[in-house]
Amino acid sequence: MSLIYRRKFNQSSLSHLVNDYMGEMVPFSKRIEKKRFLIPLICLKTIEWSIYRWYKSPVRRLYGVKRNELIYMITRRCNDRCSKCGIWRTPEPDSERIQLKNFIKCLQSLHNNLYKVTITGGEPLLFMEDVLHIAEESRKLNVPMIVVTNGSLITEDFLVKYSNFEHILVVSLDTMEKSKWKEFRGRNHYDKVMSNILLARKILGDRLKIQSVIAYETRDDIPKVKTFCDELGIQHTSQPYMDFGGVWHDANVSSLLDNDMVCAARKNICVYYNGDVVKCFDHLRIPLAREPLGNILKEDIISILSKKRTTEITKLMKTCNLPCKWLSCNVPEPQF
Ligand SMILES: C[S@@+](CC[C@H](N)C(=O)[O-])C[C@H]1O[C@@H](n2cnc3c(N)ncnc32)[C@H](O)[C@@H]1O
Ligand code: SF4
Ligand code: SF4
Repeated sequence: MSLIYRRKFNQSSLSHLVNDYMGEMVPFSKRIEKKRFLIPLICLKTIEWSIYRWYKSPVRRLYGVKRNELIYMITRRCNDRCSKCGIWRTPEPDSERIQLKNFIKCLQSLHNNLYKVTITGGEPLLFMEDVLHIAEESRKLNVPMIVVTNGSLITEDFLVKYSNFEHILVVSLDTMEKSKWKEFRGRNHYDKVMSNILLARKILGDRLKIQSVIAYETRDDIPKVKTFCDELGIQHTSQPYMDFGGVWHDANVSSLLDNDMVCAARKNICVYYNGDVVKCFDHLRIPLAREPLGNILKEDIISILSKKRTTEITKLMKTCNLPCKWLSCNVPEPQF
């Protein structure tokens, strides 16, 4: 199977050339606010594209200065039992987890390429001390960090320490109805999570954000979560329901979303709890990417990212158009 993919994507066909060009230009043109600069900037970008197309320097092309997001799925373990998500069903044993120092080494090697580090899971705050160490190291390296949490394990001590590093905390919240909590989260800790959110707002200020999942099951809840956030001045984002092994149903929002949007996941460098490296967590959907690119316990991260297969997969991702492109980690980086 991999031979078929290698053959197809190593051969430069006209359609591959067009896809490659459009995959670069469409997202670029959308970022140009002043339309009078559109044509000159597209011309300059075309020159740049042509140079890198024929004179390949993959590491430079794919891993530009501050152009990448390092995403660490620190664990698959979780203290919640959400019905939207199946990650908690397959927790890793201790023997499969990499040590903190392995991830820190990876962060140190890549920091010049990174505009953001994201820690997700499972529930990252099950490893609160590790999260704080990564937060400290990211601050030293001047890379902004985001931790995505279910909010139930937050403590005042954690918030005070975390706030010193001036990173962002994202708490997941899908409903304001206490009665739905058991069904949605598998646990009755509504009061705990809500009081943690208020405490986080007090300590972190606008570095607290809330994220919801838009699904058939939450269609009436998301507007109420949004109102709650607006009242407290908390930034609210949402992402559509995907298959994370959960039992919810999608809300058919795809038609409302920008269907031309190119998946930006190729900016990502994802590290699993066991050190495996992939380009996006949905890599199983891309035949050439099914096997991880390497493992940071066995190889240096730069060597992993410099492999021919990594370059090929990153190119394939430019034209990959699956619903997972709408997950918040796969949308284009915000342009400030
Ligand atoms: C997998 S969770 C891991 C972090 C943490 N345990 C939490 O729930 O925030 C990361 C984000 O994915 C969201 N999520 C969970 N299941 C999802 C699904 N089936 N589709 C889309 N997003 C999902 C969560 O709400 C959370 O914002
Ligand atoms: S969504 Fe987050 S909190 Fe819920 S089960 Fe999945 S990993 Fe745990
Ligand atoms: S669309 Fe999904 S599978 Fe394809 S590159 Fe984006 S995140 Fe990965």
